[in-house]
Amino acid sequence: MTVQNCIGEQNWRQRFGEAMMGSLAAPLAMLVRGQGAYVWDVDGKRYLDFLAGIAVNALGHAHPVLVDAVSSQVATLAHVSNYFASPPQLELAERLRRITGAGDRGRVFFCNSGAEGIEAAIKLARLNRGDGSRTRILSLVNSFHGRTMGSLSLTGKPALREPFEPLLPGVEHIDSTIEALEAAIDDTVAAIFIEPIKGEAGVVDLPEGFLERARELTARHGALLILDEIQTGVGRTGTWFAFQQSDIQPDALVLAKGIAGGVPIGALVTFGWASDLFKPGQHGSTFGGNPLATAAGNAVLGEIERAGLIGNAATIGSALRGIVADIDSPLVTEIRGQGALVGIGLSEPVANEIVAKAMELGLIVNAPNDYSIRIAPPLIIGDAELDEFRELFAKALEAVS
Ligand SMILES: Cc1ncc(COP(=O)(O)O)c(C=O)c1O
Repeated sequence: MTVQNCIGEQNWRQRFGEAMMGSLAAPLAMLVRGQGAYVWDVDGKRYLDFLAGIAVNALGHAHPVLVDAVSSQVATLAHVSNYFASPPQLELAERLRRITGAGDRGRVFFCNSGAEGIEAAIKLARLNRGDGSRTRILSLVNSFHGRTMGSLSLTGKPALREPFEPLLPGVEHIDSTIEALEAAIDDTVAAIFIEPIKGEAGVVDLPEGFLERARELTARHGALLILDEIQTGVGRTGTWFAFQQSDIQPDALVLAKGIAGGVPIGALVTFGWASDLFKPGQHGSTFGGNPLATAAGNAVLGEIERAGLIGNAATIGSALRGIVADIDSPLVTEIRGQGALVGIGLSEPVANEIVAKAMELGLIVNAPNDYSIRIAPPLIIGDAELDEFRELFAKALEAVS
């Protein structure tokens, strides 16, 4: 019996509602298969996937390099616990030190998701105590850092935080302005967490000079500058990491999503003196950095490098911006983001209607909020997929306006 004929449309929706925790919104479709930039649902309908699992499937779906790496690693050594090292783990740590620019002073901690990477970074911030008075952690209004209790404490969206309060003490959310940075950073700040582009807020860029000023002030006051590049990292913005478009270096970088192309993994990478804060026994994870996930990471990052996909992300990004501008819809007020992470600002709160119409036409895009569309395609796409996107997205916009 195939998946198709054992799960009918009505049946899976009902079963999902009965079996899955009510914390999840109703799914848009039941997907059963993917290939390149396309996925197929349970009824055999094909979609052009311009969300890529929220900036995760950098190589698209079922890429042979990833398939081979995971298949051969699982047949060799899948898991060993953190009592042991493994060659793929070491290789990925060294690779991350190289591509982040952390170099010889860099250190890498592996975990299994973005939120877990943020948790590790929060513990790093707590270790930056100074004389004991560094108790404050800063984060930005409207930011998103995850949904575990620590990462949720940093997330700057009150509606997500409030049902779970009290959260971590000492966390303050400041506006994304240079004035707010200057007013907040002093010797009592242990760390500030910043997304170079706020993905979940609708792909919102930081003001000009913000990162540079944050770097200056944190360096002056001994606070850690921790960048959350969970969504912007791994080539998506046209450089390996978005911060590399400025001339600053953070003290720590949190990564996840795109590293292993869909195999769960997260990482905290420290730079310079921040690499000396953790001591043996202070943090760990059973699965973190296991041979299976790190072999997948090596395969994905290796292929991104080999196939020039970082340059392609920049090319895709400017093509997408051109396409959206050319559609010239009255609904589109703004095009945001960098490279292949594109945010489209809308004049009306119709983002979910656009997503639904696009799905009907066979295109996956996303609505992080009512006024924004997010586009984050696999980095492997070319002209054929961009042409198809142009046609389907124009139709979706037209149908809604
Ligand atoms: C910027 C950012 N930080 C943290 C997270 C949390 O990552 P995860 O869902 O893997 O826990 C996300 C997820 O969307 C994210 O975009």
